[in-house]
Amino acid sequence: MELLNGNEVSKIIKLSIKEEVAKRKAAGQKTPHLAAILVGADGASMTYVAAKEKDCKEVGFDSTVLRFEASMSEEELLAEVEKINQNKDIDGLIVQLPLPKHINEKRVTEAISFKKDVDGFHPMNVGMMFKGLKTFLPATPYGIIKLLEHYGIETSGKNCVVIGRSDIVGKPMSALMLQKNCTVTICHSKTQNLSDFTLRADIIIAALGIPLFLKAEMVKEGAVVIDVGITRVEDASNKNGYKLKGDVDFDSVASKCSYITPVPGGVGPMTRVGLLLNTLDAVSHESHLF
Ligand code: GUN
Repeated sequence: MELLNGNEVSKIIKLSIKEEVAKRKAAGQKTPHLAAILVGADGASMTYVAAKEKDCKEVGFDSTVLRFEASMSEEELLAEVEKINQNKDIDGLIVQLPLPKHINEKRVTEAISFKKDVDGFHPMNVGMMFKGLKTFLPATPYGIIKLLEHYGIETSGKNCVVIGRSDIVGKPMSALMLQKNCTVTICHSKTQNLSDFTLRADIIIAALGIPLFLKAEMVKEGAVVIDVGITRVEDASNKNGYKLKGDVDFDSVASKCSYITPVPGGVGPMTRVGLLLNTLDAVSHESHLF
């Protein structure tokens, strides 16, 4: 079994992004600028946004974080999004999800200019991705593809089972694995006899958000297992009061795998890199959109 080390691979990719940014700066070209909007004070969201800010700094991007009270209205948020849409200095915008219940996430997502939608959530970008055109790819699936490519993992003709059908991970992941010539099956909460599918899978991508869901008896010998789960589970012995748990029961599954991602240190850092790569594309207009 070999670990798919997202920490290590993300460092290598961040270094190449940093070099690219330095080259842009030396040539008098624009510095990439990522803006993030955070509404409210959800602990996980605050952590993610702070991490994105840190990543930007590390590779030499400019970054702006706009923080608002959870009581902000939908109209106020839409006005802030529009300001950024019009701001020529900002290349990419993400609105951190989830939003407070009184705000319609779909409306906000669709209000972001698709040219600045570095999350790849806008229907225009989703459509382009499904057609296989170059566009902003949702960061987690993008990061996973980069990880598989880095380790030279064969995908062509392989059975890939994606567990989970979210707009952010499951659906786009299945589209990208199809483009990598996998035979893709999407399983979800209504799937019957899930093990019948997972036991035939050469590659399993678990993105359902249930800690330790995937057990050894559900996995074929030699499979590649990618764990997207990052649930905070209470743990008094940890200084934060919680521990991150993946969707895969790593301790039992690992010995059966050819490759497996750890949690933390697997998919998480690769997601962060996916966003940086999209932001670099946004400033260099490396897309069909422009
Ligand atoms: N919340 C959880 N994941 C994401 C993500 O990839 N982008 C945004 N904007 N919010 C999220």
